[in-house]
Amino acid sequence: MELNRRRFLTLSSGLLASAFLSGCMSMERGEREPKDVAVEADQVPDPGNAPFYNQSERFFLIHNDDGLLAFSTRCTHQGCNVGWQAGNDQFHCPCHGSSFNRFGEQSGGPAPRPLDLFAIAVNDDGSVIVTTGPTTERREYRPDQAVPLT
Ligand code: FES
Repeated sequence: MELNRRRFLTLSSGLLASAFLSGCMSMERGEREPKDVAVEADQVPDPGNAPFYNQSERFFLIHNDDGLLAFSTRCTHQGCNVGWQAGNDQFHCPCHGSSFNRFGEQSGGPAPRPLDLFAIAVNDDGSVIVTTGPTTERREYRPDQAVPLT
Protein backbone atom coordinates (compact mmCIF):
# COMPACT_ATOMS: atom_id res chain seq x y z
CA MET A 1 0.00 0.00 0.00
CA GLU A 2 2.79 2.41 0.96
CA LEU A 3 4.61 1.58 -2.27
CA ASN A 4 1.53 2.38 -4.35
CA ARG A 5 1.05 5.69 -2.58
CA ARG A 6 4.70 6.63 -3.06
CA ARG A 7 4.54 5.61 -6.69
CA PHE A 8 1.35 7.65 -7.17
CA LEU A 9 3.00 10.71 -5.63
CA THR A 10 6.05 10.30 -7.84
CA LEU A 11 3.91 10.00 -10.97
CA SER A 12 1.76 12.97 -9.92
CA SER A 13 4.71 15.23 -9.28
CA GLY A 14 6.22 14.18 -12.61
CA LEU A 15 3.01 15.08 -14.42
CA LEU A 16 2.80 18.41 -12.61
CA ALA A 17 6.39 19.22 -13.52
CA SER A 18 5.71 18.34 -17.16
CA ALA A 19 2.60 20.54 -17.23
CA PHE A 20 4.53 23.41 -15.62
CA LEU A 21 7.42 23.13 -18.06
CA SER A 22 5.05 22.88 -20.99
CA GLY A 23 3.34 26.07 -19.82
CA CYS A 24 6.69 27.83 -19.43
CA MET A 25 7.77 26.80 -22.91
CA SER A 26 4.52 28.13 -24.37
CA MET A 27 5.01 31.43 -22.57
CA GLU A 28 8.60 31.61 -23.84
CA ARG A 29 7.25 31.49 -27.37
CA GLY A 30 4.93 34.33 -26.45
CA GLU A 31 1.73 32.36 -26.91
CA ARG A 32 -1.22 33.57 -24.89
CA GLU A 33 -4.79 32.47 -24.44
CA PRO A 34 -7.22 34.27 -26.80
CA LYS A 35 -8.78 37.31 -25.16
CA ASP A 36 -11.21 39.80 -26.66
CA VAL A 37 -10.18 43.34 -25.75
CA ALA A 38 -12.51 46.25 -26.48
CA VAL A 39 -11.22 49.56 -27.81
CA GLU A 40 -13.89 52.24 -27.41
CA ALA A 41 -14.87 54.23 -30.50
CA ASP A 42 -13.34 57.44 -29.14
CA GLN A 43 -10.01 55.63 -28.64
CA VAL A 44 -9.79 54.31 -32.21
CA PRO A 45 -7.26 56.55 -33.97
CA ASP A 46 -8.10 58.51 -37.11
CA PRO A 47 -6.24 57.50 -40.29
CA GLY A 48 -2.65 58.72 -40.22
CA ASN A 49 -2.62 59.43 -36.48
CA ALA A 50 -0.49 57.78 -33.80
CA PRO A 51 -1.66 54.26 -32.89
CA PHE A 52 -3.73 53.37 -29.84
CA TYR A 53 -1.55 51.44 -27.36
CA ASN A 54 -2.78 48.84 -24.90
CA GLN A 55 0.09 48.19 -22.51
CA SER A 56 -1.42 45.35 -20.49
CA GLU A 57 -2.47 43.33 -23.55
CA ARG A 58 0.60 44.37 -25.53
CA PHE A 59 -0.87 45.56 -28.81
CA PHE A 60 -1.06 48.62 -31.02
CA LEU A 61 -4.15 49.51 -33.04
CA ILE A 62 -3.22 51.69 -36.01
CA HIS A 63 -5.42 53.25 -38.68
CA ASN A 64 -4.16 53.69 -42.24
CA ASP A 65 -6.07 54.54 -45.42
CA ASP A 66 -6.77 50.82 -46.04
CA GLY A 67 -8.22 50.31 -42.56
CA LEU A 68 -7.24 49.14 -39.10
CA LEU A 69 -4.36 46.84 -38.14
CA ALA A 70 -3.66 45.45 -34.67
CA PHE A 71 -0.02 44.57 -34.08
CA SER A 72 1.53 42.52 -31.32
CA THR A 73 4.20 44.63 -29.63
CA ARG A 74 6.52 41.62 -29.82
CA CYS A 75 9.48 42.30 -32.11
CA THR A 76 9.89 39.57 -34.72
CA HIS A 77 13.64 39.45 -34.12
CA GLN A 78 13.97 38.19 -30.55
CA GLY A 79 10.73 39.23 -28.92
CA CYS A 80 11.41 42.56 -27.18
CA ASN A 81 8.51 44.99 -27.02
CA VAL A 82 8.50 47.65 -29.70
CA GLY A 83 7.42 51.22 -29.00
CA TRP A 84 5.94 53.99 -31.13
CA GLN A 85 8.26 56.78 -32.31
CA ALA A 86 5.93 59.64 -33.17
CA GLY A 87 8.68 61.78 -34.70
CA ASN A 88 9.59 59.08 -37.21
CA ASP A 89 6.06 57.71 -37.68
CA GLN A 90 7.32 54.19 -37.01
CA PHE A 91 7.66 51.46 -34.41
CA HIS A 92 11.09 50.91 -32.92
CA CYS A 93 12.63 48.05 -30.99
CA PRO A 94 15.04 49.16 -28.24
CA CYS A 95 16.94 45.86 -28.13
CA HIS A 96 18.72 45.71 -31.49
CA GLY A 97 17.28 48.67 -33.35
CA SER A 98 14.72 47.14 -35.69
CA SER A 99 12.12 49.54 -37.02
CA PHE A 100 8.71 48.94 -38.58
CA ASN A 101 6.53 51.27 -40.64
CA ARG A 102 2.83 52.03 -40.11
CA PHE A 103 1.93 48.75 -41.84
CA GLY A 104 4.18 46.81 -39.48
CA GLU A 105 6.71 46.07 -42.22
CA GLN A 106 10.32 46.01 -41.12
CA SER A 107 12.17 49.08 -42.37
CA GLY A 108 15.52 48.59 -40.63
CA GLY A 109 17.47 46.37 -38.27
CA PRO A 110 17.64 42.59 -37.97
CA ALA A 111 13.91 41.75 -37.71
CA PRO A 112 13.17 39.04 -40.30
CA ARG A 113 9.50 39.83 -40.96
CA PRO A 114 6.72 42.34 -40.24
CA LEU A 115 5.05 42.65 -36.86
CA ASP A 116 2.50 39.91 -36.21
CA LEU A 117 -1.22 40.69 -36.44
CA PHE A 118 -4.06 40.17 -34.02
CA ALA A 119 -7.61 39.66 -35.33
CA ILE A 120 -9.96 42.67 -35.32
CA ALA A 121 -13.75 43.00 -35.39
CA VAL A 122 -15.52 46.34 -35.77
CA ASN A 123 -18.81 46.88 -33.92
CA ASP A 124 -21.73 48.94 -35.22
CA ASP A 125 -20.97 51.71 -32.71
CA GLY A 126 -17.43 52.13 -34.06
CA SER A 127 -15.75 50.36 -31.19
CA VAL A 128 -13.26 47.62 -32.05
CA ILE A 129 -12.59 44.19 -30.57
CA VAL A 130 -8.98 43.04 -30.75
CA THR A 131 -8.48 39.33 -30.09
CA THR A 132 -5.10 38.97 -28.48
CA GLY A 133 -3.33 35.65 -28.09
CA PRO A 134 -3.08 33.90 -31.45
CA THR A 135 -1.16 35.97 -33.97
CA THR A 136 -0.88 35.87 -37.75
CA GLU A 137 2.65 35.90 -39.11
CA ARG A 138 3.18 37.48 -42.51
CA ARG A 139 5.95 38.22 -44.99
CA GLU A 140 4.62 41.54 -46.24
CA TYR A 141 1.75 43.96 -45.94
CA ARG A 142 -1.28 43.45 -48.17
CA PRO A 143 -4.32 45.78 -48.10
CA ASP A 144 -6.65 42.86 -47.37
CA GLN A 145 -4.97 42.51 -43.95
CA ALA A 146 -6.54 45.83 -42.93
CA VAL A 147 -10.07 46.01 -41.55
CA PRO A 148 -12.12 49.05 -42.71
CA LEU A 149 -13.78 50.97 -39.89
CA THR A 150 -17.09 51.56 -41.72
FE1 FES B 1 13.90 43.64 -31.64
FE2 FES B 1 16.23 42.40 -31.69
S1 FES B 1 14.53 41.97 -30.44
S2 FES B 1 15.62 44.09 -32.85
